[in-house]
Amino acid sequence: MAENDSKISMRNKKVYQSEPFSPRAEYFNKFTGRESELRFVTAAWIAGDSSLPMSPLLIGEPGVGKNRLIYELAQKTGRQLYIFQGHEDVTSEDLACTVRFSDQTGSVMDYMISPLVTAMYNGGICFIDEIGKIRPRALALLVSVLDERRYIDSTLLGERIHAHPGFRFVAATNTADLNLLPEFIISRMRPQINIGYPPREEIDDILREQCKGIKKEVEKLIDLFWMLWTDHGGKIGAIAPRDAIYLFGWASKLSSFETTGGPKTLMESSLEKPYQLTEGHSFTGIRPEHLKQAFQKLFTDRPAIKD
Ligand SMILES: Nc1ncnc2c1ncn2[C@@H]1O[C@H](COP(=O)(O)OP(=O)(O)OP(=O)(O)O)[C@@H](O)[C@H]1O
Ligand SMILES: [Mg+2]
Repeated sequence: MAENDSKISMRNKKVYQSEPFSPRAEYFNKFTGRESELRFVTAAWIAGDSSLPMSPLLIGEPGVGKNRLIYELAQKTGRQLYIFQGHEDVTSEDLACTVRFSDQTGSVMDYMISPLVTAMYNGGICFIDEIGKIRPRALALLVSVLDERRYIDSTLLGERIHAHPGFRFVAATNTADLNLLPEFIISRMRPQINIGYPPREEIDDILREQCKGIKKEVEKLIDLFWMLWTDHGGKIGAIAPRDAIYLFGWASKLSSFETTGGPKTLMESSLEKPYQLTEGHSFTGIRPEHLKQAFQKLFTDRPAIKD
């Protein structure tokens, strides 16, 4: 973002805005399914002169597509998306404003308004990801944002910022962190939308889309994948899109390793004659053995996670 776009004036202070997130099309496959989840969040955000938008909470296992759903909704509703990444060290004021050493001559410090305040100021969407990882006392400032007050008080700025009418809010948490959220936040975050594992047909569509270059072979590879998955003890319809995408991505890279030279070329490579790490076409040469090898590495050889 150009400096002039990002710097705004609040009362007598110049402050920097957070940057919106725009997904890079080349890194994202086509969005598949999730019609009811899209409908629920959109409906919750509908508001007018006499009604306020609701603030949904997405709950789901890692990799099921909580972020992706929000990226999709930001595009569909034509709003800028500002993401605040939750973690254990977030402080209450981080949700509003922070300061950093300035690069500008004549300034010692710069004020940076958070993604939340930037979205409130511009009428964009604020998405707090992993909200369950933020400690309860740091979430206190959010309370007035989520109820009828729709404002946030920043001590650093000495300012109360009221939300633009276009401001919308959503947060996500992994299922395991849900019970860490305090009641004063949970009770203001409605509806709570469960993002489950997609059905088999949607995983298949995601994989077909990912492997567009091998239309003929892909159906056999998908069948092989479900066979490996069920033999491994997995249930049909109980895999996160991220795991399926990584699996075929890894199989594709194992196949590319052969086309970019393979083991012999790698052994003969050196500083003077380096191994080439760029490929021409991804997802074109996957064979069953690549998928089996990738499956083994990703799922079978994975060290057991201890509780
Ligand atoms: N409906 C979908 N259509 C196409 N791709 C999807 C869909 N849902 C998820 N994906 C892809 O699956 C991967 C994981 O999705 P995402 O990062 O949104 O999951 P998450 O639920 O936010 O995970 P985490 O809890 O670990 O943050 C991404 O590559 C995303 O593009
Ligand atoms: Mg996520």
